[in-house]
Amino acid sequence: KQNIFILGIESSCDDTSAAVIHNGKVLSNVVASQKIHEAYGGVVPELASRAHQQNIVPVVHQALKKANITKAQLSAIAFTRGPGLMGSLLVGTSFAKSLAYGLNIPLIDVNHMQAHILAHFIEETNFKKPPFPFLAMTISGGHTQIVNVEDYFSMTVIGETIDDAVGEAYDKSGKILGLGYPAGPEIDKRAQLGNPKAFTFTKPKVDGLNFSFSGLKTAILYFIQKETKANPNFINENINDICASIQYTIIGILIDKLKKATKATGIKHIAIGGGVSANSGIRKALQDGEQKFGWTTYIPKFEYTTDNAAMIAIVGYLKFLEANFAEQDIMASARLKI
Ligand code: KG4
Ligand code: ZN
Repeated sequence: KQNIFILGIESSCDDTSAAVIHNGKVLSNVVASQKIHEAYGGVVPELASRAHQQNIVPVVHQALKKANITKAQLSAIAFTRGPGLMGSLLVGTSFAKSLAYGLNIPLIDVNHMQAHILAHFIEETNFKKPPFPFLAMTISGGHTQIVNVEDYFSMTVIGETIDDAVGEAYDKSGKILGLGYPAGPEIDKRAQLGNPKAFTFTKPKVDGLNFSFSGLKTAILYFIQKETKANPNFINENINDICASIQYTIIGILIDKLKKATKATGIKHIAIGGGVSANSGIRKALQDGEQKFGWTTYIPKFEYTTDNAAMIAIVGYLKFLEANFAEQDIMASARLKI
């Protein structure tokens, strides 16, 4: 068997990451998260690209060091071409192109959304891989998508958000409630202590398999404004119930669409990715789905569900096996589609 070492580079949003994969197995996966955005309650694109510029060289060095290899041993460089923030993508793209050029090895472009899905094919003991065809639901601060995956590079988006991503709904609700950023993990924690039926938020009416979360955010804002007018301590006194009710609504929206998607396609293998897949509510709902609807669900190791370079490197490895390489004139693409 060939010894294939792929260096993956991810810089699409606010995490600078580099990883080395050897024949499909992760040797290193280094992520430098950018704390600077917390003060703003969201990612500031200009600050993100500057931080990538600072982080990229040390992160790549660390990834090679942890993998215990030199750059001379690399077989190819894989990088995130898009979608993402243009300034952020440019840092990783330019770096990857230069390194591949300097080392005279193949360059491999990777679609970030495909990578979230193909992260399921990282070689990991104890994690089962989904069989084709399967449905992939990618849920994070930047994405909400359901994809019909027929093969590694044959996949179709069958539903996606028409406005905010699901993680954004968590984070924006958290902002209204005065919680820190990102608010998803805290809302989840508090939700487990509260009554999910305490308050009712109407679900958006969106056709087919698409999602919408911006109306929910507005509904929560008006609800909180109204209640705090009557009782200034409303949030404090009801925080766990509010979080539980928000979570109940959001998970309900996701599961409704998944049910529809399994009906429409007849596919019952469901693979989850993205930071929101850590959510206790979605995990429980998926487990229920296994019992109630005969689903088989797949959730990768957490470090491969949030933005990371190991998922970029595994796609690089799969493309390397097909000799599917990029040219040096390839450009980053902020709105790249699956
Ligand atoms: O994948 P990720 O790390 O970054 C991108 O957005 O690409 O996802 C981060 C998002 C944030 O919106 C965060 O609030 C949300 O995932 N999140 C959660 C949980 N953990 C992270 N949302 C709900 N429940 C959680 N346990
Ligand atoms: Zn992502």
